[in-house]
Amino acid sequence: MTLRFNDETFRGDYTFRNSPQAVRRFPFPFDQDSYMYSVNLELHKGGRAGSVFENRFDVDEHYVAEMRDREITLAEDPLRCQSLPHMELAGWDFLELVMTTKAEDYPDLFTLHRDGDRWHWINRPLNIEQRFTFLDATTLPCGPMEYITRQTQGDHALLDQRDGNLWMDAGMITSQADWSLDFDIGMNFFEWHAPVPKAHEMGVFQRALKFLLNLQQGAPVRRLNWTMTVNPRLDTSPENYHKWGPEKRTITPGNVGEKQFLRVELQTLWRLPRSNAIAFPIRCYLCSLEDIVTVPKWGRRLHRVLRDLPEELATYKGFAVNRPMIVDYLAQFDDGAETSPGI
Ligand code: HEM
Repeated sequence: MTLRFNDETFRGDYTFRNSPQAVRRFPFPFDQDSYMYSVNLELHKGGRAGSVFENRFDVDEHYVAEMRDREITLAEDPLRCQSLPHMELAGWDFLELVMTTKAEDYPDLFTLHRDGDRWHWINRPLNIEQRFTFLDATTLPCGPMEYITRQTQGDHALLDQRDGNLWMDAGMITSQADWSLDFDIGMNFFEWHAPVPKAHEMGVFQRALKFLLNLQQGAPVRRLNWTMTVNPRLDTSPENYHKWGPEKRTITPGNVGEKQFLRVELQTLWRLPRSNAIAFPIRCYLCSLEDIVTVPKWGRRLHRVLRDLPEELATYKGFAVNRPMIVDYLAQFDDGAETSPGI
């Protein structure tokens, strides 16, 4: 296998680390020195070799450890994975999408043999080999969406499309930025986005929904979203706020570079063929501030973005309490140079 997988944790002793290569390919999300919500959707049609955009579902050095962390979260709270009965077909669509693309993009890691509806899946990093009948759930150890998302980095929501809206009717959500599948299940696009400040008044969600309702099969799109997380923790759910919320108070000027992480989500959207549902994988990348500042233009820009971010956004994203310390830390890496647009 070409990739080496880290033995690391996203809780407890937090041994998560990014290799220098992982830092270089981190999807730094800011193309200018300030930030505001927008409908930042573009075609998901590949990207520079080695970048997180190169393949349709990025697999990196954190794969095996992330799947182990998901297993722990699910064992503690099975409601992180839910699928309403009418979403089973969408689950099969998604399983097919992930298996076929991963086998094509990473032939050394994954293999899929298909003989009519008799499929044989091999996942080498996780040591899984499974023969099953496509569209027959009794031949898998669990439902199709759960089966494939236990083997795919990132959270995943499956949206049903009806009545001119999208409905969050299934998902595997174990590494979310403080929202709950159990709370949102069955909600529509405007309902689950209700807590987001400013974007509704700006018309962002009306435009985004209109675009998504017309999403075409074979033309997936992507966007980046970001927030800040203390410690490299994947499970920052409301359900476990009592575990990670107090950790925000452990930040000091001496440890902020090491313990404060920029959390970037690479979100992609895929029209599914049989169900007409939309799959929404949310892939999370974590990078500590001290790793960010090893790229001087990132350190300089992040300082300006966080310093000037409207207070409502810092509060919503949950880092207002530590913003002064973060901005003071990053200020040392901002030499005042002019920057040009682009990442
Ligand atoms: C936040 C889900 C697509 C923009 C959120 C939240 C959820 C969510 C659950 C957190 C809300 C909370 O605080 O409880 C989804 C799903 C999508 C989707 C399932 C798939 C259809 C989009 C698109 C846009 C968008 C296409 C494009 C503009 C945002 C923004 C936030 C947000 C700006 C606030 C994020 C932040 O400041 O950290 N989304 N979303 N979403 N979403 Fe979406």
